[in-house]
Amino acid sequence: MTAKPTITFAKLSAPRKGSAILLVADDLSLSHMAGSCDPGGHLARSFPISGFKAAFGTSSELLAPEGTPLDRLTALGVGKLESLNEFSWLRLGGAAAAAFRGRSDVTVIAELEGVAVTAAQAAAIAAGILLRSYRFEKYKTRRDDDDPATTEGMRVTIAFAEPTAAKRAFAELVHVVDGVWLARDLVNEPANTLGPIEFAAAAKALELHGLSVDVLTEREMKKLGMGALLGVAQGSSRPSRVVVMRWNGGKAKDKPVVLIGKGVVFDTGGNSMKTASGMEDMKGDMGGAAAVVGAMRAVAGRKAKANVVGIIGVVENMVDGNAQRPGDIVKSMSGQTIEVMNTDAEGRLVLADVLWYCQQRFQPRLMIDLATLTGAIMVSLGQFHAGLFSNDDELSQQLVAAGLSTHERLWRMPMGDDYDKLINSKNADMKNIGGRYGGAGLAAQFPQRFVKDTPWAHLDIAGPAMSAPASEINQSWGTGFGVRLLDRFVRDACEGS
Ligand code: BES
Ligand code: MN
Ligand code: ZN
Repeated sequence: MTAKPTITFAKLSAPRKGSAILLVADDLSLSHMAGSCDPGGHLARSFPISGFKAAFGTSSELLAPEGTPLDRLTALGVGKLESLNEFSWLRLGGAAAAAFRGRSDVTVIAELEGVAVTAAQAAAIAAGILLRSYRFEKYKTRRDDDDPATTEGMRVTIAFAEPTAAKRAFAELVHVVDGVWLARDLVNEPANTLGPIEFAAAAKALELHGLSVDVLTEREMKKLGMGALLGVAQGSSRPSRVVVMRWNGGKAKDKPVVLIGKGVVFDTGGNSMKTASGMEDMKGDMGGAAAVVGAMRAVAGRKAKANVVGIIGVVENMVDGNAQRPGDIVKSMSGQTIEVMNTDAEGRLVLADVLWYCQQRFQPRLMIDLATLTGAIMVSLGQFHAGLFSNDDELSQQLVAAGLSTHERLWRMPMGDDYDKLINSKNADMKNIGGRYGGAGLAAQFPQRFVKDTPWAHLDIAGPAMSAPASEINQSWGTGFGVRLLDRFVRDACEGS
C-alpha cells in the first residue's frame, strides 16, 4: 500500500511555503485568497499564453514569482459553476492530486470566486486526493520513476474558511476512502496469494474496527446443505469460506440490511473452461465480495446508525479430477435442485446458497447482492453503469439515487416470468443457464429463485468493478466500485429510519 499523503485543514490564508493550487472557474477570476498568492497577477496574465480556459479538471502551472514565499502556483479549472454537483468535488480533489507531481508540500485553496464552498465540499476535495493517490505497488521491487502523481510522504493542506467543520466532515469520509482502498487492494491482489482462506482472514481483520465477524468452514457449509456453492469449489484444492460481518449500530429490534457479495477468487470457468485470452482478469471475480467488505469497513468506521450485515461466499472455480461437470445436478441449501449446464455460470450458484442462508439466519429487512456475474452486462451497459435487477421499486429507486450521488451509477434492467421460464430444466428444478439472449437478465433470474418475499436487489458489477477506464479519482485496475454506493445507500436509506 502506498503511503497516503497526510491531509490537514487550515484557515484560509496565503501559504508560506511549498506549492499552492488555486480553484478557478471559467470566468478566470481568482478568489481573494488565490489573488493574494499571486500579488503581481502573473498567473492570471499567463492564462491566455498557456491557453488555460479553466475547463473542469484542467490545470495550468507557473513558477511562483520572485519575492513570494512559494515555489509554484497551479490554477485548477472547475469549469462552469452551475454544472458543479456533489461528485465534482471529489473529482476536483483527484485532478488536484494529478497536478501534485511529486511535490512534498502543497496547499489547496478551497475558495472559489462567486460561490461559497461548503465544509462538505472542502472535505470531498481531500477525499478525492486520497482516492486518486491509491496505487497497487506491493509487488514492485523498483519504483516507477515516471509516476508523476506519487503522493508518498507528501503533506497536503486544505485551506478553508471553516477548517474545523471541514475536518469533521473529512473524519467521516476517511472511513469510506479506507473502504475503497481496501476493496481495490483485494481486487488487485492475485489469486495465488488471495485464496478463500486469505480472503476470509482479510474480512476477519475488520473486527479491529468493531465488526463481529464469523467464518463458516466447509464442514459447516456441508452441514447447512450448501450444495450449489460447494459444487463450484469442488475442483479447487483450496477450501471455500462464507464470511458473515455484522455491524449493530441501529436499534436492537431493527432487522438488518444485508449486503451480499460474490467472492470467486479465481474463475477459470471450470470444465466449461474460459479461453486463455483475458483469463487473468478473473482474479477480480471477487469484486462483489470486495465491495461488501469495503462497505462494511466504511459503515463500521463511521459508526453508522443502522444494523448492517455483510455476507460473502468465497470460492475458487478450478478444474481437477474432482471438478463439477456440465450436466451434474446439485442440491442447494433451499432444497431446490440445479442442473449445472455450464460450470462457468458459477457466480449464481454461489449467490443461491448465500441468499438462502441470509434469509434463514437474519430475516433481513432487505438484501442487496453485488456480483461480477456476466460478460453480457458489459455488452448491454458498458463499464460506466452496473446493472440493477430487483423485485422492489422503492429499493431500486433508492439505489439509483445513491448511484447518482456517488457517481457509482446503476441502470435498472428488466426481469419477469417470461425470462424466468427460460431457466426451467427438464431434469431438475432449474438449470444455471438460459438461452442465447439477455444473458445478464437470465443470470439475475437465477438468484431470484432463492429470494422469498424480502426486498432484494442484484447489482451486476462486471463492467465497473475492474479494468474500467481511469478517472480523476481512480487509476487502479480494481476500482473499488460499490463501496461508496453501498455506504451512501446505508446513510440515506437505512439510517435513522
Ligand atoms: N465471472 C464471469 C463474468 C465476467 C466476465 C465478469 C468478464 C467480468 C468479466 C462469470 O462467472 C461468467 O463466466 N459468466 C458467463 C456466463 C455464461 C457461461 C452463461 C459469461 O458471462 O460468459
Ligand atoms: Mn464464470
Ligand atoms: Zn465468475
